[in-house]
Amino acid sequence: MRKATIWAGFGIILGAAAALGHGDTAPQSVDTTGLPDLPTEMATENPWREADPAVLFKAVEVGAKGFNSNCARCHGLGAISGGLAPDLRYLEANEFGDEWFLDRILHGYEQNGAVKMPPFEGILNQQAIWAIRTYVETRADEVEIADQKDKLTAMRDKLAAAAEDPATATALAPELAAAGEGFETLSGAPRAVTPFDEAAWQLSSEPPHIKAAIETLSAAVRN
Ligand code: HEC
Repeated sequence: MRKATIWAGFGIILGAAAALGHGDTAPQSVDTTGLPDLPTEMATENPWREADPAVLFKAVEVGAKGFNSNCARCHGLGAISGGLAPDLRYLEANEFGDEWFLDRILHGYEQNGAVKMPPFEGILNQQAIWAIRTYVETRADEVEIADQKDKLTAMRDKLAAAAEDPATATALAPELAAAGEGFETLSGAPRAVTPFDEAAWQLSSEPPHIKAAIETLSAAVRN
């Protein structure tokens, strides 16, 4: 009897921790260090849609953090909507989609006096806004990624085996980059950024982020 009560209490604590894990409810600013500066005037179209890989991947990295702390609790972890709010991966990657995205992210959405989505104007700077946009529009179909689970696992294991040997680990970058080719975005954006691409980029940075690359692949295997 007593045991059951303790376990029930434990379950409540775990539940609360899991809810917090989806991001605190108060909108949070995002650290945009490492992203190029943008003109003060708000762009009308994503300035990084066709950026070089170094900027594109950095935008995805910053955007993933910004999305997970501010948007995921409604729009879904990994931008895969659970039905609470629209699936942002399908928002068209063009000027019309960007205009709609900007309007919602800056002003939020109210219905009959109830805030359905909070406004982020003044909380997220322009770089954070476009980084989040870049993150959502570069997502590939999660079913296609799930189909690659064997390959993701094999690459993760190879990399983990070479974790203490930077030369061997970084030599895996081209193979990872090749594995990331051929995926399409759901938004029509020119380039999908998959876990293969992210891991390849992490290995190619200076110094190489080997542990981060292993974690990127492990997270993709878990999903
Ligand atoms: C409290 C829940 C909540 C949070 C947090 C939230 N949204 Fe929303 N969002 C909604 C809802 C609900 C809608 C649908 C409103 C409507 O009917 O247009 C929406 C709509 C949108 C749309 C329009 C999508 C479409 O297809 O019409 C965009 C873009 C968007 N949100 C972006 C974001 C971004 C980016 C963040 C994080 C910075 C965010 N939202 C945070 C609930 C939320």
